[in-house]
Amino acid sequence: AANMAEEAKKLAAYSAVDNNVQNNQAVGVGSGSTIVYAVDRLAERVRQEKLNIVCVPTSFQARQLILQHGLALSDLERHPELDVAIDGADEVDAQLTLIKGGGGCLTQEKIIAGNSKCFVVIADYRKDSSVLGEQWKKGVPIEVIPMAYVPVSRVIAKRFGGEVNLRMAVSKAGPVVTDNSNFILDWKFEDVQNWSEVNTAIKMIPGVVETGLFVNMAERAYFGMEDGSV
Ligand code: A5P
Repeated sequence: AANMAEEAKKLAAYSAVDNNVQNNQAVGVGSGSTIVYAVDRLAERVRQEKLNIVCVPTSFQARQLILQHGLALSDLERHPELDVAIDGADEVDAQLTLIKGGGGCLTQEKIIAGNSKCFVVIADYRKDSSVLGEQWKKGVPIEVIPMAYVPVSRVIAKRFGGEVNLRMAVSKAGPVVTDNSNFILDWKFEDVQNWSEVNTAIKMIPGVVETGLFVNMAERAYFGMEDGSV
């Protein structure tokens, strides 16, 4: 089953890169395990087709991937408008609303997606959902300024219900610290009707840096399926 999911990630990534990346583009590079296949394919196409593209990373991990593959690294100062951004997701619903940030990189991911003419999602069949929360059980990641994590947690639980937990590190005693030196809350929501409203309301709470809800941002999603189709 694990191999099948990896194969599905690869299929989605390859097909997204093949159908959305062209010569002379600035490309946003997402984070996570699926994007690794997309960067492999990008590097292959750059070699084979002699493409002239620059890549802008969404995280420390993405930056390393770009450098390791010998791709041209850029940033939003030199390329404030990207042609395309490709990224994974933790869950995708029927309206292409996403939960992201399972890997803690949501803030830079949203900045990159928001400054791209086209934002494309790549995922395996396990992320394809009709209603958010059906597949991804860990909740909505929310990046917060460290001093505010308790009040932000309380306000979210009080106003929207559910349970909010500070994400703890696995190989260190203490919380996960993001690439932006902040903390991550995971909000296990119960029943949400309007993700756009909830996203805006949470974003307005003092101390919230960004939410892992991507509403009306993704243009297309490529899902690798169990039968080998995309
Ligand atoms: C990183 O913060 C996340 O938003 C990832 O983009 C997301 O978790 C997808 O990761 P996988 O490709 O590993 O599922």
